[in-house]
Amino acid sequence: MNEEMRKEQSKLTTETSTDKKSSADKPLSEKTTEDFAHYFQTTYQPPNINKARKRYREDIEVHYDFSIPEDMKSIGADKKFLIRTFGCQMNEHDSETMAGILMQMGYEATTEEKEADIIIMNTCAIRENAENRVFGEIGHLKALKVENPNLIIAVAGCMSQQETVVNRILEKHQQVDLIFGTHNIHRLPQLIQEAMFSKAQVVEVWSQEGDIYENLPKARHGKIKAWVNIMYGCDKFCTYCIVPMTRGKERSRRPEDIIQEVRHLAAQGYQEITLLGQNVNSYGKDFEDIDYLFGDLLKDMNKIDIPRVRFMTPHPRDFDDRAIEALAQGGNLLDHIHLPVQSGSSEILRRMNRKYTREEYLDLVRKIKAAIPNVTLTTDIIVGFPNETDEQFEETMSLVEEVGYESAYTFIYSPREGTPAAAMEDNVPMEVKKERLYRLNELVNKQSAESMQEFEGKVIKVLVEGESKRDPNVLAGYTEKSKVVNFKGPKSIIGQIVDVKITKAKTWSLDGEIVTKITEVNEDAKIFT
Ligand code: 5AD
Ligand code: SF4
Repeated sequence: MNEEMRKEQSKLTTETSTDKKSSADKPLSEKTTEDFAHYFQTTYQPPNINKARKRYREDIEVHYDFSIPEDMKSIGADKKFLIRTFGCQMNEHDSETMAGILMQMGYEATTEEKEADIIIMNTCAIRENAENRVFGEIGHLKALKVENPNLIIAVAGCMSQQETVVNRILEKHQQVDLIFGTHNIHRLPQLIQEAMFSKAQVVEVWSQEGDIYENLPKARHGKIKAWVNIMYGCDKFCTYCIVPMTRGKERSRRPEDIIQEVRHLAAQGYQEITLLGQNVNSYGKDFEDIDYLFGDLLKDMNKIDIPRVRFMTPHPRDFDDRAIEALAQGGNLLDHIHLPVQSGSSEILRRMNRKYTREEYLDLVRKIKAAIPNVTLTTDIIVGFPNETDEQFEETMSLVEEVGYESAYTFIYSPREGTPAAAMEDNVPMEVKKERLYRLNELVNKQSAESMQEFEGKVIKVLVEGESKRDPNVLAGYTEKSKVVNFKGPKSIIGQIVDVKITKAKTWSLDGEIVTKITEVNEDAKIFT
Protein backbone atom coordinates (compact mmCIF):
# COMPACT_ATOMS: atom_id res chain seq x y z
CA MET A 1 0.00 0.00 0.00
CA ASN A 2 1.48 3.36 -0.85
CA GLU A 3 1.32 6.65 1.03
CA GLU A 4 -1.66 7.98 -0.94
CA MET A 5 -3.70 4.83 -0.32
CA ARG A 6 -2.95 4.98 3.41
CA LYS A 7 -4.01 8.61 3.61
CA GLU A 8 -7.20 7.82 1.72
CA GLN A 9 -7.97 4.95 4.09
CA SER A 10 -7.56 7.31 7.03
CA LYS A 11 -10.59 9.33 6.03
CA LEU A 12 -13.37 7.39 7.70
CA THR A 13 -16.27 9.42 8.93
CA THR A 14 -18.84 9.08 11.66
CA GLU A 15 -21.73 8.34 9.38
CA THR A 16 -20.10 5.47 7.57
CA SER A 17 -18.55 3.64 10.43
CA THR A 18 -20.57 3.81 13.61
CA ASP A 19 -23.69 2.61 15.18
CA LYS A 20 -23.63 4.92 18.19
CA LYS A 21 -26.60 3.47 19.98
CA SER A 22 -25.62 -0.17 19.98
CA SER A 23 -22.01 0.65 20.88
CA ALA A 24 -23.09 2.77 23.81
CA ASP A 25 -24.73 -0.26 25.37
CA LYS A 26 -21.60 -2.37 25.24
CA PRO A 27 -19.26 -2.67 28.23
CA LEU A 28 -15.84 -1.10 27.59
CA SER A 29 -14.09 -4.45 27.37
CA GLU A 30 -16.24 -5.41 24.39
CA LYS A 31 -15.97 -2.15 22.52
CA THR A 32 -13.80 -1.94 19.44
CA THR A 33 -12.21 1.15 18.00
CA GLU A 34 -15.12 1.40 15.57
CA ASP A 35 -17.37 2.14 18.53
CA PHE A 36 -15.44 5.29 19.26
CA ALA A 37 -15.49 6.60 15.71
CA HIS A 38 -18.18 9.13 16.59
CA TYR A 39 -15.53 11.10 18.43
CA PHE A 40 -13.92 12.00 15.12
CA GLN A 41 -14.83 14.08 12.17
CA THR A 42 -11.54 14.30 10.41
CA THR A 43 -8.74 11.81 10.43
CA TYR A 44 -9.43 8.45 11.92
CA GLN A 45 -7.57 5.28 11.34
CA PRO A 46 -7.59 2.82 14.21
CA PRO A 47 -4.75 0.44 14.94
CA ASN A 48 -5.43 -3.19 14.11
CA ILE A 49 -3.19 -5.85 15.60
CA ASN A 50 -4.06 -8.51 13.01
CA LYS A 51 -3.03 -6.21 10.20
CA ALA A 52 0.10 -5.24 12.14
CA ARG A 53 1.08 -8.89 12.47
CA LYS A 54 0.85 -9.56 8.72
CA ARG A 55 3.89 -9.22 6.54
CA TYR A 56 2.94 -7.88 3.11
CA ARG A 57 5.13 -8.31 0.08
CA GLU A 58 4.84 -4.79 -1.26
CA ASP A 59 8.04 -2.91 -1.83
CA ILE A 60 8.95 -0.20 0.60
CA GLU A 61 9.46 3.14 -1.08
CA VAL A 62 12.23 5.49 0.00
CA HIS A 63 11.22 9.15 0.00
CA TYR A 64 13.69 12.01 -0.19
CA ASP A 65 11.20 14.81 -0.54
CA PHE A 66 9.85 15.56 2.94
CA SER A 67 9.08 19.22 3.46
CA ILE A 68 6.83 21.20 5.75
CA PRO A 69 3.86 22.54 3.73
CA GLU A 70 4.05 26.34 3.25
CA ASP A 71 0.94 27.07 5.35
CA MET A 72 2.33 25.11 8.30
CA LYS A 73 5.81 26.59 8.37
CA SER A 74 4.99 29.29 10.87
CA ILE A 75 2.17 27.56 12.68
CA GLY A 76 4.43 27.19 15.72
CA ALA A 77 5.73 30.78 15.78
CA ASP A 78 5.90 32.04 19.39
CA LYS A 79 4.85 28.60 20.59
CA LYS A 80 6.69 25.96 22.58
CA PHE A 81 6.78 22.17 22.61
CA LEU A 82 7.72 19.53 25.13
CA ILE A 83 8.30 15.86 24.28
CA ARG A 84 8.37 13.26 27.05
CA THR A 85 10.04 10.05 25.88
CA PHE A 86 9.56 6.59 27.38
CA GLY A 87 11.35 3.39 26.43
CA CYS A 88 14.17 2.49 24.09
CA GLN A 89 16.74 4.34 22.00
CA MET A 90 14.50 4.02 18.95
CA ASN A 91 11.92 6.13 20.77
CA GLU A 92 14.59 8.61 21.88
CA HIS A 93 15.60 9.00 18.27
CA ASP A 94 11.99 9.28 17.05
CA SER A 95 11.57 12.11 19.56
CA GLU A 96 14.57 13.84 17.97
CA THR A 97 12.77 13.60 14.63
CA MET A 98 9.51 14.95 16.09
CA ALA A 99 11.48 17.81 17.66
CA GLY A 100 13.18 18.51 14.31
CA ILE A 101 9.81 18.69 12.52
CA LEU A 102 8.32 20.93 15.22
CA MET A 103 11.29 23.30 15.05
CA GLN A 104 10.87 23.61 11.28
CA MET A 105 7.26 24.60 12.02
CA GLY A 106 8.53 27.45 14.18
CA TYR A 107 8.09 25.84 17.61
CA GLU A 108 10.73 26.23 20.31
CA ALA A 109 11.63 23.55 22.86
CA THR A 110 10.79 23.93 26.53
CA THR A 111 11.20 21.73 29.58
CA GLU A 112 8.38 23.49 31.46
CA GLU A 113 4.98 21.85 31.07
CA LYS A 114 3.24 25.13 31.93
CA GLU A 115 4.96 26.96 29.07
CA ALA A 116 4.19 24.32 26.46
CA ASP A 117 1.65 24.78 23.66
CA ILE A 118 2.03 21.17 22.61
CA ILE A 119 3.04 18.20 24.74
CA ILE A 120 3.85 14.88 23.05
CA MET A 121 4.10 11.68 25.08
CA ASN A 122 6.27 9.31 23.03
CA THR A 123 5.34 6.01 24.64
CA CYS A 124 6.64 2.47 25.14
CA ALA A 125 4.55 -0.71 25.15
CA ILE A 126 7.18 -3.31 25.96
CA ARG A 127 6.03 -4.05 29.53
CA GLU A 128 2.91 -3.28 31.51
CA ASN A 129 4.64 -1.01 34.02
CA ALA A 130 5.84 1.23 31.16
CA GLU A 131 2.22 1.60 30.06
CA ASN A 132 0.98 2.30 33.57
CA ARG A 133 3.48 5.12 33.96
CA VAL A 134 2.28 6.72 30.74
CA PHE A 135 -1.37 6.51 31.77
CA GLY A 136 -0.42 8.09 35.11
CA GLU A 137 1.22 11.00 33.28
CA ILE A 138 -1.65 11.41 30.83
CA GLY A 139 -4.03 11.66 33.79
CA HIS A 140 -1.82 14.28 35.37
CA LEU A 141 -1.90 16.44 32.20
CA LYS A 142 -5.66 16.92 32.57
CA ALA A 143 -5.19 19.80 35.01
CA LEU A 144 -2.89 21.60 32.56
CA LYS A 145 -5.49 21.30 29.82
CA VAL A 146 -8.10 22.85 32.10
CA GLU A 147 -5.75 25.78 32.77
CA ASN A 148 -4.83 26.14 29.11
CA PRO A 149 -7.56 24.82 26.76
CA ASN A 150 -5.39 25.66 23.71
CA LEU A 151 -2.74 23.20 24.82
CA ILE A 152 -2.44 20.26 22.41
CA ILE A 153 -1.76 16.93 24.11
CA ALA A 154 -0.56 14.17 21.81
CA VAL A 155 0.17 10.50 22.46
CA ALA A 156 2.63 8.84 20.07
CA GLY A 157 4.92 5.81 19.97
CA CYS A 158 4.36 2.11 20.53
CA MET A 159 1.36 2.39 22.86
CA SER A 160 -0.57 4.28 20.17
CA GLN A 161 -0.21 1.27 17.90
CA GLN A 162 -2.43 -0.80 20.21
CA GLU A 163 -6.18 -0.81 19.78
CA THR A 164 -6.90 -1.29 23.49
CA VAL A 165 -4.75 1.68 24.40
CA VAL A 166 -6.39 3.94 21.82
CA ASN A 167 -9.83 2.88 23.08
CA ARG A 168 -8.88 3.56 26.68
CA ILE A 169 -7.60 7.04 25.82
CA LEU A 170 -10.73 7.84 23.83
CA GLU A 171 -12.98 6.61 26.61
CA LYS A 172 -11.23 8.04 29.62
CA HIS A 173 -8.81 10.75 28.56
CA GLN A 174 -10.67 13.40 26.60
CA GLN A 175 -7.81 15.81 27.33
CA VAL A 176 -5.77 14.01 24.63
CA ASP A 177 -6.20 15.83 21.31
CA LEU A 178 -4.07 13.69 19.03
CA ILE A 179 -2.98 10.06 18.86
CA PHE A 180 -0.50 9.11 16.15
CA GLY A 181 1.50 5.96 15.51
CA THR A 182 5.12 5.03 14.88
CA HIS A 183 4.50 4.95 11.10
CA ASN A 184 2.90 8.41 11.04
CA ILE A 185 5.66 10.65 12.39
CA HIS A 186 6.28 12.31 9.00
CA ARG A 187 2.61 13.41 9.03
CA LEU A 188 3.08 15.44 12.22
CA PRO A 189 2.58 18.88 10.58
CA GLN A 190 -0.76 17.89 9.04
CA LEU A 191 -1.89 16.13 12.23
CA ILE A 192 -1.10 19.11 14.41
CA GLN A 193 -2.99 21.35 12.04
CA GLU A 194 -6.00 19.03 12.24
CA ALA A 195 -5.77 18.84 16.03
CA MET A 196 -5.67 22.66 16.21
CA PHE A 197 -8.67 23.25 14.06
CA SER A 198 -10.80 20.17 14.71
CA LYS A 199 -13.07 20.02 17.71
CA ALA A 200 -12.73 16.26 17.79
CA GLN A 201 -9.89 14.04 18.88
CA VAL A 202 -7.61 13.18 15.95
CA VAL A 203 -6.33 9.63 15.58
CA GLU A 204 -4.00 8.45 12.86
CA VAL A 205 -2.31 5.12 13.42
CA TRP A 206 -1.25 3.05 10.43
CA SER A 207 -0.99 -0.59 11.41
CA GLN A 208 1.02 -1.45 8.35
CA GLU A 209 4.53 -0.07 8.22
CA GLY A 210 5.10 3.08 6.26
CA ASP A 211 7.78 3.85 3.72
CA ILE A 212 11.21 5.16 4.62
CA TYR A 213 11.56 8.95 4.87
CA GLU A 214 15.16 9.96 4.39
CA ASN A 215 15.25 13.67 4.93
CA LEU A 216 13.17 14.15 8.05
CA PRO A 217 14.72 16.92 10.13
CA LYS A 218 16.31 15.88 13.43
CA ALA A 219 16.98 17.99 16.49
CA ARG A 220 19.66 15.80 18.06
CA HIS A 221 20.19 15.76 21.77
CA GLY A 222 23.69 17.17 22.20
CA LYS A 223 26.69 17.35 19.89
CA ILE A 224 28.74 14.43 21.20
CA LYS A 225 26.82 11.20 20.59
CA ALA A 226 24.21 10.48 17.92
CA TRP A 227 21.72 7.73 17.14
CA VAL A 228 21.59 6.56 13.53
CA ASN A 229 18.70 4.36 12.39
CA ILE A 230 19.89 1.72 9.97
CA MET A 231 16.70 -0.29 9.84
CA TYR A 232 13.15 -0.28 11.09
CA GLY A 233 10.81 -3.02 12.32
CA CYS A 234 11.24 -6.63 13.38
CA ASP A 235 10.24 -9.93 11.77
CA LYS A 236 11.41 -12.22 14.56
CA PHE A 237 8.10 -12.51 16.43
CA CYS A 238 9.44 -13.62 19.80
CA THR A 239 6.29 -14.88 21.52
CA TYR A 240 6.46 -12.41 24.43
CA CYS A 241 7.18 -9.31 22.36
CA ILE A 242 4.85 -6.62 21.06
CA VAL A 243 7.47 -4.88 18.90
CA PRO A 244 6.78 -6.70 15.59
CA MET A 245 3.21 -5.39 15.89
CA THR A 246 4.10 -1.83 16.91
CA ARG A 247 7.03 -1.31 14.54
CA GLY A 248 6.08 -3.28 11.44
CA LYS A 249 8.15 -5.36 9.07
CA GLU A 250 11.90 -5.10 8.69
CA ARG A 251 12.99 -2.34 6.33
CA SER A 252 16.65 -1.40 5.82
CA ARG A 253 17.84 2.04 4.88
CA ARG A 254 20.02 2.20 1.77
CA PRO A 255 23.74 2.02 2.66
CA GLU A 256 24.58 5.24 0.80
CA ASP A 257 22.04 7.17 2.88
CA ILE A 258 23.46 5.83 6.16
CA ILE A 259 27.06 6.48 5.11
CA GLN A 260 26.19 10.02 4.10
CA GLU A 261 24.47 10.67 7.44
CA VAL A 262 27.41 9.32 9.46
CA ARG A 263 29.94 11.29 7.39
CA HIS A 264 27.93 14.39 8.04
CA LEU A 265 27.86 13.67 11.80
CA ALA A 266 31.64 13.12 11.75
CA ALA A 267 32.13 16.43 9.96
CA GLN A 268 30.04 18.15 12.62
CA GLY A 269 32.39 16.81 15.30
CA TYR A 270 30.28 14.01 16.79
CA GLN A 271 32.50 11.51 18.63
CA GLU A 272 30.25 8.50 18.81
CA ILE A 273 27.37 7.00 16.85
CA THR A 274 25.08 4.11 17.71
CA LEU A 275 23.59 2.23 14.77
CA LEU A 276 20.00 1.49 15.69
CA GLY A 277 17.54 -1.21 14.75
CA GLN A 278 15.11 -3.39 16.67
CA ASN A 279 16.98 -6.27 15.12
CA VAL A 280 20.00 -4.36 13.94
CA ASN A 281 22.04 -7.21 12.47
CA SER A 282 19.36 -8.44 10.12
CA TYR A 283 20.26 -5.26 8.25
CA GLY A 284 20.34 -5.71 4.48
CA LYS A 285 18.49 -9.04 4.37
CA ASP A 286 15.57 -7.32 2.67
CA PHE A 287 17.67 -5.90 -0.17
CA GLU A 288 16.86 -7.63 -3.42
CA ASP A 289 19.26 -5.74 -5.66
CA ILE A 290 22.49 -5.77 -3.63
CA ASP A 291 24.41 -8.23 -1.45
CA TYR A 292 25.17 -5.88 1.42
CA LEU A 293 24.69 -7.04 5.01
CA PHE A 294 25.36 -5.73 8.52
CA GLY A 295 29.04 -6.79 8.37
CA ASP A 296 29.51 -4.79 5.16
CA LEU A 297 27.97 -1.72 6.76
CA LEU A 298 30.25 -2.11 9.81
CA LYS A 299 33.28 -2.23 7.50
CA ASP A 300 32.12 0.94 5.77
CA MET A 301 31.56 2.62 9.16
CA ASN A 302 35.16 1.78 10.04
CA LYS A 303 36.35 3.87 7.08
CA ILE A 304 34.63 6.99 8.38
CA ASP A 305 36.58 9.35 10.60
CA ILE A 306 34.42 9.10 13.70
CA PRO A 307 36.08 7.73 16.87
CA ARG A 308 33.40 5.38 18.18
CA VAL A 309 30.76 3.19 16.56
CA ARG A 310 28.30 1.08 18.56
CA PHE A 311 25.13 -0.78 17.59
CA MET A 312 21.85 -1.77 19.30
CA THR A 313 20.27 -4.37 19.38
CA PRO A 314 21.54 -7.49 17.61
CA HIS A 315 19.79 -10.87 17.58
CA PRO A 316 22.01 -13.92 18.19
CA ARG A 317 20.44 -15.78 15.29
CA ASP A 318 21.52 -13.09 12.80
CA PHE A 319 25.09 -12.71 14.11
CA ASP A 320 26.90 -14.01 11.04
CA ASP A 321 30.60 -14.45 10.26
CA ARG A 322 30.65 -11.30 8.13
CA ALA A 323 29.69 -9.20 11.16
CA ILE A 324 32.18 -10.97 13.46
CA GLU A 325 34.96 -10.55 10.91
CA ALA A 326 34.16 -6.83 10.58
CA LEU A 327 34.12 -6.32 14.36
CA ALA A 328 37.42 -8.17 14.70
CA GLN A 329 39.04 -5.41 12.61
CA GLY A 330 38.60 -3.08 15.59
CA GLY A 331 39.27 0.51 14.58
CA ASN A 332 36.30 2.59 15.56
CA LEU A 333 34.11 -0.51 16.07
CA LEU A 334 34.02 -0.89 19.84
CA ASP A 335 34.56 -4.26 21.49
CA HIS A 336 31.37 -4.11 23.55
CA ILE A 337 28.51 -6.23 22.24
CA HIS A 338 25.05 -6.21 23.81
CA LEU A 339 23.72 -9.65 22.89
CA PRO A 340 20.27 -10.40 24.37
CA VAL A 341 19.95 -14.05 25.40
CA GLN A 342 16.55 -13.86 27.23
CA SER A 343 16.93 -17.33 28.82
CA GLY A 344 19.55 -20.02 29.38
CA SER A 345 17.09 -22.86 28.83
CA SER A 346 16.69 -24.31 25.34
CA GLU A 347 13.10 -25.28 26.10
CA ILE A 348 12.16 -21.74 27.20
CA LEU A 349 14.02 -20.32 24.21
CA ARG A 350 11.97 -22.61 21.97
CA ARG A 351 8.75 -21.40 23.55
CA MET A 352 9.94 -17.82 23.23
CA ASN A 353 10.52 -18.49 19.50
CA ARG A 354 14.05 -17.16 19.83
CA LYS A 355 15.25 -19.50 17.03
CA TYR A 356 18.43 -20.65 18.82
CA THR A 357 19.29 -23.09 21.61
CA ARG A 358 21.46 -22.55 24.68
CA GLU A 359 24.25 -24.48 22.94
CA GLU A 360 24.00 -22.41 19.74
CA TYR A 361 24.15 -19.20 21.76
CA LEU A 362 27.21 -20.43 23.67
CA ASP A 363 28.87 -21.47 20.39
CA LEU A 364 28.30 -17.96 19.09
CA VAL A 365 29.80 -16.48 22.25
CA ARG A 366 32.89 -18.71 21.85
CA LYS A 367 33.25 -17.61 18.23
CA ILE A 368 32.96 -13.93 19.16
CA LYS A 369 35.45 -14.28 22.03
CA ALA A 370 37.94 -16.07 19.75
CA ALA A 371 37.70 -13.33 17.11
CA ILE A 372 37.60 -10.37 19.54
CA PRO A 373 39.63 -11.49 22.60
CA ASN A 374 38.97 -8.39 24.68
CA VAL A 375 35.23 -8.33 24.01
CA THR A 376 32.75 -7.24 26.69
CA LEU A 377 29.36 -8.91 26.56
CA THR A 378 26.14 -7.63 28.11
CA THR A 379 22.62 -8.94 27.69
CA ASP A 380 18.86 -8.84 28.29
CA ILE A 381 17.16 -11.57 30.34
CA ILE A 382 13.50 -12.33 31.07
CA VAL A 383 12.67 -14.36 34.18
CA GLY A 384 9.33 -15.99 34.94
CA PHE A 385 8.29 -16.73 31.37
CA PRO A 386 5.07 -18.85 31.58
CA ASN A 387 5.72 -22.18 33.29
CA GLU A 388 9.48 -21.59 33.69
CA THR A 389 10.66 -24.29 36.13
CA ASP A 390 13.30 -23.89 38.85
CA GLU A 391 15.68 -26.01 36.76
CA GLN A 392 15.12 -23.86 33.69
CA PHE A 393 15.81 -20.74 35.73
CA GLU A 394 19.01 -22.35 37.09
CA GLU A 395 20.08 -22.85 33.48
CA THR A 396 19.83 -19.07 33.03
CA MET A 397 21.96 -18.54 36.14
CA SER A 398 24.63 -20.95 34.92
CA LEU A 399 24.68 -19.36 31.47
CA VAL A 400 25.19 -15.90 32.98
CA GLU A 401 28.26 -17.23 34.79
CA GLU A 402 29.55 -19.15 31.82
CA VAL A 403 29.36 -16.16 29.45
CA GLY A 404 30.62 -13.76 32.15
CA TYR A 405 28.32 -10.84 31.25
CA GLU A 406 29.55 -7.55 32.68
CA SER A 407 26.02 -6.27 33.05
CA ALA A 408 22.48 -7.19 32.08
CA TYR A 409 19.03 -5.68 31.81
CA THR A 410 16.79 -8.11 33.67
CA PHE A 411 13.00 -8.22 33.55
CA ILE A 412 10.09 -10.15 34.95
CA TYR A 413 7.98 -11.44 32.07
CA SER A 414 5.04 -9.11 31.38
CA PRO A 415 2.12 -10.45 29.32
CA ARG A 416 1.36 -8.23 26.32
CA GLU A 417 -2.07 -8.46 24.77
CA GLY A 418 -1.95 -9.74 21.21
CA THR A 419 1.28 -11.73 21.67
CA PRO A 420 1.22 -15.57 21.63
CA ALA A 421 2.75 -15.83 25.13
CA ALA A 422 -0.08 -13.79 26.64
CA ALA A 423 -2.42 -16.68 25.81
CA MET A 424 -0.16 -19.27 27.54
CA GLU A 425 -1.19 -20.59 30.91
CA ASP A 426 1.29 -19.68 33.62
CA ASN A 427 1.85 -21.65 36.81
CA VAL A 428 4.67 -19.51 38.21
CA PRO A 429 3.54 -17.30 41.13
CA MET A 430 4.67 -13.67 41.10
CA GLU A 431 6.54 -14.22 44.39
CA VAL A 432 8.69 -16.87 42.71
CA LYS A 433 9.33 -14.61 39.73
CA LYS A 434 10.44 -11.80 42.04
CA GLU A 435 12.74 -14.12 43.94
CA ARG A 436 14.31 -15.32 40.69
CA LEU A 437 14.83 -11.73 39.55
CA TYR A 438 16.46 -10.91 42.87
CA ARG A 439 18.86 -13.86 42.65
CA LEU A 440 19.72 -13.09 39.05
CA ASN A 441 20.40 -9.45 39.88
CA GLU A 442 22.69 -10.46 42.74
CA LEU A 443 24.74 -12.55 40.32
CA VAL A 444 24.84 -9.86 37.64
CA ASN A 445 25.86 -7.21 40.21
CA LYS A 446 28.67 -9.44 41.46
CA GLN A 447 29.97 -9.95 37.92
CA SER A 448 29.65 -6.24 37.22
CA ALA A 449 31.65 -5.32 40.33
CA GLU A 450 34.36 -7.86 39.40
CA SER A 451 34.64 -6.45 35.89
CA MET A 452 35.04 -2.95 37.33
CA GLN A 453 37.93 -4.09 39.56
CA GLU A 454 39.99 -4.97 36.49
CA PHE A 455 40.20 -1.29 35.56
CA GLU A 456 41.86 -0.11 38.79
CA GLY A 457 45.27 1.38 38.05
CA LYS A 458 44.71 1.31 34.27
CA VAL A 459 44.67 4.29 31.92
CA ILE A 460 41.60 4.21 29.69
CA LYS A 461 39.98 6.40 27.07
CA VAL A 462 36.93 8.32 28.26
CA LEU A 463 34.51 10.31 26.13
CA VAL A 464 33.68 13.26 28.37
CA GLU A 465 29.96 13.92 28.24
CA GLY A 466 29.43 16.63 30.83
CA GLU A 467 29.24 17.40 34.51
CA SER A 468 28.46 14.59 36.90
CA LYS A 469 24.80 14.61 37.99
CA ARG A 470 25.82 14.49 41.64
CA ASP A 471 28.61 17.08 41.66
CA PRO A 472 29.02 19.87 39.09
CA ASN A 473 32.74 20.06 39.92
CA VAL A 474 33.23 16.54 38.65
CA LEU A 475 33.13 15.47 34.99
CA ALA A 476 31.51 12.26 33.80
CA GLY A 477 32.11 10.21 30.70
CA TYR A 478 31.98 6.72 29.21
CA THR A 479 34.69 4.22 28.40
CA GLU A 480 34.67 2.18 25.20
CA LYS A 481 33.01 -0.59 27.20
CA SER A 482 30.25 1.76 28.38
CA LYS A 483 31.46 2.15 31.99
CA VAL A 484 30.80 5.49 33.64
CA VAL A 485 33.92 7.34 34.83
CA ASN A 486 33.89 10.33 37.19
CA PHE A 487 36.95 12.57 37.45
CA LYS A 488 37.99 16.20 37.97
CA GLY A 489 38.93 18.29 34.96
CA PRO A 490 38.20 21.53 33.11
CA LYS A 491 34.79 21.87 31.44
CA SER A 492 36.59 22.75 28.22
CA ILE A 493 37.24 19.05 27.59
CA ILE A 494 33.54 18.14 27.45
CA GLY A 495 32.98 16.43 24.12
CA GLN A 496 36.57 15.15 23.86
CA ILE A 497 38.09 11.71 24.34
CA VAL A 498 40.78 11.89 27.03
CA ASP A 499 43.01 9.45 28.94
CA VAL A 500 41.96 8.84 32.53
CA LYS A 501 43.78 6.75 35.14
CA ILE A 502 41.30 4.72 37.22
CA THR A 503 41.86 5.18 40.94
CA LYS A 504 38.82 3.42 42.38
CA ALA A 505 36.32 0.86 41.08
CA LYS A 506 32.74 0.88 42.37
CA THR A 507 29.88 -1.46 41.39
CA TRP A 508 28.39 0.83 38.76
CA SER A 509 31.07 3.45 38.09
CA LEU A 510 34.78 4.21 38.18
CA ASP A 511 36.63 7.15 39.76
CA GLY A 512 39.73 8.46 38.03
CA GLU A 513 42.28 11.21 37.41
CA ILE A 514 42.85 12.83 34.08
CA VAL A 515 46.17 11.87 32.45
CA THR A 516 45.91 13.80 29.20
CA LYS A 517 47.82 17.04 29.76
CA ILE A 518 45.79 20.13 29.05
CA THR A 519 47.76 23.29 28.41
CA GLU A 520 45.63 26.27 29.21
CA VAL A 521 46.43 29.00 26.69
CA ASN A 522 43.65 31.34 27.57
CA GLU A 523 40.00 30.97 28.51
CA ASP A 524 38.88 30.39 24.92
CA ALA A 525 41.62 28.16 23.59
CA LYS A 526 42.95 25.03 25.23
CA ILE A 527 45.61 22.79 23.72
CA PHE A 528 45.81 19.04 24.31
CA THR A 529 49.21 17.36 24.39
N1 5AD B 1 8.10 -8.92 29.25
C1 5AD B 1 9.31 -8.68 29.82
N2 5AD B 1 10.38 -8.25 29.14
C2 5AD B 1 10.24 -8.05 27.81
N3 5AD B 1 11.11 -7.64 26.88
C3 5AD B 1 10.47 -7.60 25.70
N4 5AD B 1 9.19 -7.96 25.84
C4 5AD B 1 9.01 -8.27 27.15
C5 5AD B 1 7.92 -8.72 27.92
N5 5AD B 1 6.73 -8.95 27.37
C6 5AD B 1 12.51 -7.36 27.16
C7 5AD B 1 13.45 -8.28 26.37
C8 5AD B 1 14.01 -7.34 25.34
C9 5AD B 1 14.02 -6.02 26.08
C10 5AD B 1 14.13 -4.82 25.22
O1 5AD B 1 12.81 -6.03 26.79
O2 5AD B 1 14.46 -8.73 27.23
O3 5AD B 1 15.29 -7.72 24.90
FE1 SF4 C 1 11.02 -8.23 20.17
FE2 SF4 C 1 12.30 -10.50 19.56
FE3 SF4 C 1 12.05 -8.53 17.71
FE4 SF4 C 1 13.69 -8.19 19.83
S1 SF4 C 1 13.92 -9.74 18.20
S2 SF4 C 1 12.20 -6.70 19.01
S3 SF4 C 1 12.60 -9.27 21.45
S4 SF4 C 1 10.41 -9.75 18.60
